[in-house]
Amino acid sequence: MSVGETGSWHAALIVFLTLIAGIVIAVTGDSLETDKQVLLNLKSFLKDRNPVYHGQYIKWNQSFSPCEWAGILCNTNGTRVTGINLSYENISGELFNNFSALTELSYLDFSNNTINGEIPGDLSRCKNLKHLNLSHNIILGELNLSGLPNLEVLDLSINRISGDIQSSFPSICGKLIVANISANNFTGRIDTCFQKCSNLQYLDLSSNNFSGEIWVGFDRLREFSASENVLVGTVSPPMFTPNCNLQVLDLSENGFFGTFPAEISNCRNLLILNLWGNNFTGLIPADIGSISGLRDLFLGNNGFYREIPETLLNCTNLEFLDLSRNNFRGEIQPIFGKFLHVKFIVLHANSYTGGINSSGILRLPKISRLDLSYNNFSGPLPLEISQMQSLKFLILAYNQFTGNIPPEFGNLQGLQALDLSVNRLTGSIPSSFGNLRSLLWLMLADNLLSGEIPAEIGNCGSLLWLNLANNQFSGKIPHQITNIGKNATPTFELNKQNVGVIAGTGECLAMKRWIPADYPPFSFMYTLLTRKSCRSIWDRMLKGTGLSPMCVVGSTVRTYRISGYLQLSGNRFSGELPSQIGTMQDFTMLHLGVNAFNGKLPPGIGRMPLEVLNLTKNEFSGQIPIEFGDIECLRNLDLSYNNFSGAFPTSLNNLTQLSRFNISYNPYITGIIPWTGQLATFEKESYLGDPLLRLPSFIENSTDGFPGKKDPNDKPKRLKKMYAVMIFLALTLFFLVCGIVFLGREECRRRFKGTTLN
Ligand SMILES: *[C@@H]1O[C@H](CO)[C@@H](O)[C@H](O)[C@H]1NC(C)=O
Ligand SMILES: *[C@@H]1O[C@H](CO)[C@@H](O)[C@H](O)[C@H]1NC(C)=O
Ligand SMILES: *[C@@H]1O[C@H](CO)[C@@H](O)[C@H](O)[C@H]1NC(C)=O
Ligand SMILES: *[C@@H]1O[C@H](CO)[C@@H](O)[C@H](O)[C@H]1NC(C)=O
Ligand SMILES: *[C@@H]1O[C@H](CO)[C@@H](O)[C@H](O)[C@H]1NC(C)=O
Ligand SMILES: *[C@@H]1O[C@H](CO)[C@@H](O)[C@H](O)[C@H]1NC(C)=O
Ligand SMILES: *[C@@H]1O[C@H](CO)[C@@H](O)[C@H](O)[C@H]1NC(C)=O
Ligand SMILES: *[C@@H]1O[C@H](CO)[C@@H](O)[C@H](O)[C@H]1NC(C)=O
Ligand SMILES: *[C@@H]1O[C@H](CO)[C@@H](O)[C@H](O)[C@H]1NC(C)=O
Ligand SMILES: *[C@@H]1O[C@H](CO)[C@@H](O)[C@H](O)[C@H]1NC(C)=O
Ligand SMILES: *[C@@H]1O[C@H](CO)[C@@H](O)[C@H](O)[C@H]1NC(C)=O
Ligand SMILES: *[C@@H]1O[C@H](CO)[C@@H](O)[C@H](O)[C@H]1NC(C)=O
Repeated sequence: MSVGETGSWHAALIVFLTLIAGIVIAVTGDSLETDKQVLLNLKSFLKDRNPVYHGQYIKWNQSFSPCEWAGILCNTNGTRVTGINLSYENISGELFNNFSALTELSYLDFSNNTINGEIPGDLSRCKNLKHLNLSHNIILGELNLSGLPNLEVLDLSINRISGDIQSSFPSICGKLIVANISANNFTGRIDTCFQKCSNLQYLDLSSNNFSGEIWVGFDRLREFSASENVLVGTVSPPMFTPNCNLQVLDLSENGFFGTFPAEISNCRNLLILNLWGNNFTGLIPADIGSISGLRDLFLGNNGFYREIPETLLNCTNLEFLDLSRNNFRGEIQPIFGKFLHVKFIVLHANSYTGGINSSGILRLPKISRLDLSYNNFSGPLPLEISQMQSLKFLILAYNQFTGNIPPEFGNLQGLQALDLSVNRLTGSIPSSFGNLRSLLWLMLADNLLSGEIPAEIGNCGSLLWLNLANNQFSGKIPHQITNIGKNATPTFELNKQNVGVIAGTGECLAMKRWIPADYPPFSFMYTLLTRKSCRSIWDRMLKGTGLSPMCVVGSTVRTYRISGYLQLSGNRFSGELPSQIGTMQDFTMLHLGVNAFNGKLPPGIGRMPLEVLNLTKNEFSGQIPIEFGDIECLRNLDLSYNNFSGAFPTSLNNLTQLSRFNISYNPYITGIIPWTGQLATFEKESYLGDPLLRLPSFIENSTDGFPGKKDPNDKPKRLKKMYAVMIFLALTLFFLVCGIVFLGREECRRRFKGTTLN
C-alpha cells in the first residue's frame, strides 16, 4: 500500500466515522438539526388543529436557526433547543406527543391556551424538564409525571385534571420548588405525598376535591394553600414548629374543626392567615397578636367566640380583617374601633343589632372598605359616615336602616361603591350625590325611596352601574341622567395606579349581588365569578378592564369593554324618555320595566350597544322605532304590556342574537310576523294579546312550549311527538272498535298486525 493509498483510506475512514456519528446523533436526536425537525413537526401538528388563529409558531421556517424562532429558547452557545414558550397563543387541540425528542428540553410553557385531552405519556420522558407550565387550559385525565425528577417549577392550575396525585408525588419531589395544581378536579389524600419535597417553597392545592387530613409538614413552606377542598380534622399545635417559615397560609373553605392552635405565633413571618369557611370554634388565639407583620386575617364563616382578643391590636400592619358570618350578635364589639391601621373590615352576615356608632368603627382613619351588610342594624344612617374620607366601598345592604339618606354622604369624594339596597330608607336621592365623581356603583334597590332623580346625578361621570329598582321614585327622569358613566376614566386611572387588589383581598363573592345574573352579558360574568377568580374580576372591573366582548353598534367586531347598566324597574317613573339616551354608549342593559313611562320611544335607543332592553308594563305608545333592528347585540327584548301601535317593525328579524323576546299585550300593533328568520323562532307566548298581529300558523297553533328562544331542532321533535300521539289515539280507537264490534275475531288480530308492521 502506498502512502497515497493509506491517506485516502484514512480519509474514507474519517468520512465513514463522521457519517456514523451523524447517524447516531440523528437517531438519538442529539443535534440542533433534529431539534429543528421536531419543532417543524410541532408546527404542522399545531397548524392542523388550529385552522383559524395561528400563534407565533406559524412563522417558524427552514431558513433560520430555530434559536431565532419566536417562542424558542436555546442554550447559550446556540447548539440545542432548551425551551418552548407558546403561552397565550390561541392553541387548541391536544398536547403534542413528541416533546421527548427534544432531548435538552428544560422549559415548556403552553399556558393560557385551550389545550384539551390528556397529558401524553411522552411528556413524562422529558427527563431534563425543569419548568412545566400547562396552566389555564382544559386538560383532562389523570396525572403521571413520575419521569420528571428534575422539575423545579410545576404549574397545572385551572385545568380539569382528575384522580389522585400519588403517581407524581413524591416521585417528582426531589428538586421541586413551586407546585401549583389548584383549580383542577384532583381527589384523594394529601397527607403523605409531600413529605419528601425538601426544596418545596410554594404549594397551591386549592379548589380541588382533596379529602382526608392535612399534611403535617406544611409549615416549612413559604406559601401553602389548601383552600376549597374537603379536608377535615383538626389543626394541631405541633404543626407549627419553631422553624415555621410560612408567609401565606390559606386553609379556607374546608371542614377543619376544633380550636385553632396558639402555636401559629411560631410563624413570625406570616403575612396572610386565611381560615375562612371552616368549623373552627373557641377563642381566636390571642397569640396571633405577636405576629407583628400580619397583614390579612380572615376568620369569617367559622364558629369563633365573640370575644376578640385585645392582643390583636398589636398587629400594627393589619389591613384586612374579615369576621363575616360568625354569628356575632348584639352591638358591634367596641374593639373594632381600635384597629387604627385597618383598611378593610368585613362583618357581613352576622346578627348585629342596634346602631354602629358606639363601636367607634366609623372613626377609623384609614378605612377603605366597610361591609356591614346582612345584619340587623336599624335606625337612621349615621351622619358620622360622611366624615370617613378614606372610604371607597360602603356596603350596608340588607339591614333595617330607616330615614333619609343624609345629604352629607355627598361629601365622600372618594366613594366608588355605595350599596344601601334592601333597607327601609325613605326620602329622595340627595342632589349632593352629584359630587360623587368617583362613584362607580350606586345600589339603592328595594327601599322606600321616592321623589324624582336629581338632575345633578348627571355629574356622576363614573357611574356605570346604577340600580334604583323597586322603590317609589316618580316623575320624569332628567335628561342629565344620560351623562352618567361618560367619564369614568379618571377613576379607573386612579385605581390602576394601585398595584394591589384595590378592594382588598378576601371574601369578595358578596359583590356577586351587583351583577344581574339573569341578564347578558352580566350572566356570563356571573358564571365566571368563583371564589378563585372573584378578586381578580372585581379588580379588573375597578380598573376599567372589560370582562366580556361588547357589541359596537354598526360593527360586527366585539371589543373588550366595560359595560354598564341602568335599572329603574319597579318604580312610578312617568313621562317620556330623554331623546339623548342614544348617547349612553357604555351601557348594555336598560331595564325600565314596571313604571308609568309614556310617549314615543326615542329612535336613539337604536344606537346603544344594548344586550338587554326591558320596557315591560309601561304606557309607551306610538310606533316601535325601526332602528331597534340595528341593535345587533340585543339578546333580550321585552316590550310587553304597553300601548305600542302602528306597523310591527320587521327590521327586528335582523336581530340574530335575540333569544328572549316579548311583545305581548300591545293590542294596537299591526303587521305580519315573517315565516322565517329570528322572529319565527319564538313561541306564541311572545305574541299573546296582539290581535292585529298575524303570526305564522305554526306559531299560532302551537300549544306547548315556553316563551323564549327555542331550539331549531324542536320543530321536528314536536311534530314527531304529535305523530306519536296521533298513532296512539288511532290504535286505541282501532282496539276499541275491534274489541266491541269484532270481539274475539281473528280479523282483528290480523288487522292490528298489519297496522303496526306498516
Ligand atoms: C419524534 O420525533 C423524532 C425526530 O423527529 C422522530 O424520529 C420520531 O419518529 C417522532 N416520534 C413520533 C412518535 O412522532
Ligand atoms: C421565514 O421567516 C422569515 C421571518 O419570519 C420570513 O421573512 C421569510 O420570508 C420566511 N421564509 C420562508 C421560506 O417562508
Ligand atoms: C454548548 O453549551 C453546553 C452547555 O450549555 C455544553 O454542554 C456544550 O458542550 C457546548 N457546546 C459547544 C459546541 O460548545
Ligand atoms: C413566555 O411568554 C409569555 C407571553 O409571551 C411571557 O410573558 C413570558 O415572559 C415568557 N417566558 C419566558 C421564560 O420567556
Ligand atoms: C387570538 O385570537 C384572537 C381572536 O380571538 C386574536 O384577536 C388574537 O390576536 C389572537 N392572539 C394571538 C397571539 O394570535
Ligand atoms: C394567563 O392568564 C392569566 C389570567 O388571565 C394571567 O394572570 C396570566 O398573566 C396569563 N399568563 C400569560 C403568560 O399570559
Ligand atoms: C370532577 O369529578 C367529579 C367526579 O369525581 C365529576 O362528577 C365532576 O363532573 C368533575 N368536574 C369537572 C369540572 O370535571
Ligand atoms: C360544622 O359543624 C356542624 C356541627 O358541629 C356541622 O353540622 C356542619 O356540617 C359543619 N360544617 C362543616 C363545613 O364542616
Ligand atoms: C400586646 O398587647 C398587650 C395588651 O393588649 C400587651 O400587654 C402586650 O405586651 C403586647 N405584646 C407585644 C408583643 O407587643
Ligand atoms: C322584564 O322585566 C320583568 C320585570 O322585572 C321580568 O318579569 C321579565 O322577565 C323581563 N323580561 C325579560 C324578557 O327578561
Ligand atoms: C336587515 O339588515 C340588512 C343588512 O344587514 C339590511 O339590508 C336590511 O334592510 C335589514 N332589514 C330591515 C327590514 O331593516
Ligand atoms: C292553524 O289553525 C287554523 C284554525 O285555527 C287552521 O285554519 C290552520 O289550518 C292551522 N294551521 C296549521 C298549520 O295547522
